[in-house]
Amino acid sequence: MIGIFDSGIGGMTVARAVEQCLPDYSLVYYGDIAHTPYGPKSPATITNYSIKNTEFLLEKGAEIIIIACNSASSVATRTLREQFNVPIIEVISPAASKAIDCSKNGRIGIIGTKATVKSNIYTEKITTVRPDYKVYSQPCPLLVPLVEENWLNRRETKMILRRYLHPLKEKQIDTLVLGCTHYPLLKKLIQARIGKRVTLIDSSIETANFIKTFLKKNPETVNKNGDKQVSHTYYVSDRTETACKVADRIFSRPMELIQA
Ligand code: DGL
Repeated sequence: MIGIFDSGIGGMTVARAVEQCLPDYSLVYYGDIAHTPYGPKSPATITNYSIKNTEFLLEKGAEIIIIACNSASSVATRTLREQFNVPIIEVISPAASKAIDCSKNGRIGIIGTKATVKSNIYTEKITTVRPDYKVYSQPCPLLVPLVEENWLNRRETKMILRRYLHPLKEKQIDTLVLGCTHYPLLKKLIQARIGKRVTLIDSSIETANFIKTFLKKNPETVNKNGDKQVSHTYYVSDRTETACKVADRIFSRPMELIQA
């Protein structure tokens, strides 16, 4: 079984992509809504939450963990890999590689939470491979609460996006990494604001592709369901009405979120 966690509902964009890419695998998801957002919190706190989330998923039978949260991937990956004896997959590397492949002018924008941008991890990953590339990062702390509130098409959301994306537009980036798993829900608005010539990199899709390749190379890691029925189970640490609404919207089906 594949285990996936996020600070809330954003990681469901990764889970949705995994469901589509790997329909024969069961998955268990944990959204730590009680503690969302992670982005403004310290690395130590985000790491502690990430350890608890991983323990929860392992108890439920996960054999591999996807950290479907850029903030947690940025600051907690090393600790999780040291503490747990299962493969830990993060969302940064697949998105960074894709951005390197896509950029033609070598000017890449990153939008993410404060924790992700502060960690500088995207810049490091990109410039290690391409020291000639310029990476421009923009923290967007208001976007996660807007998504968690289901304010996906509000005038206020558009205004805030305009403010956040303006500096990146000025830098003439040709590729923009959605460095937070909540942001795919704002993809249309972001594309409209940044311009259609800029390629958006969705870390949820890149991570699902990465895990598909990983499981092909390492099939023994996760038990495929064989004749048994595939299960997709979604747990949350706080089952709010808005979370249920956004979850239904992400999956385009009525979702059962179980209070953990
Ligand atoms: N989806 C998380 C991420 O990718 C959001 C983090 C947060 O809760 O601030 O960074």
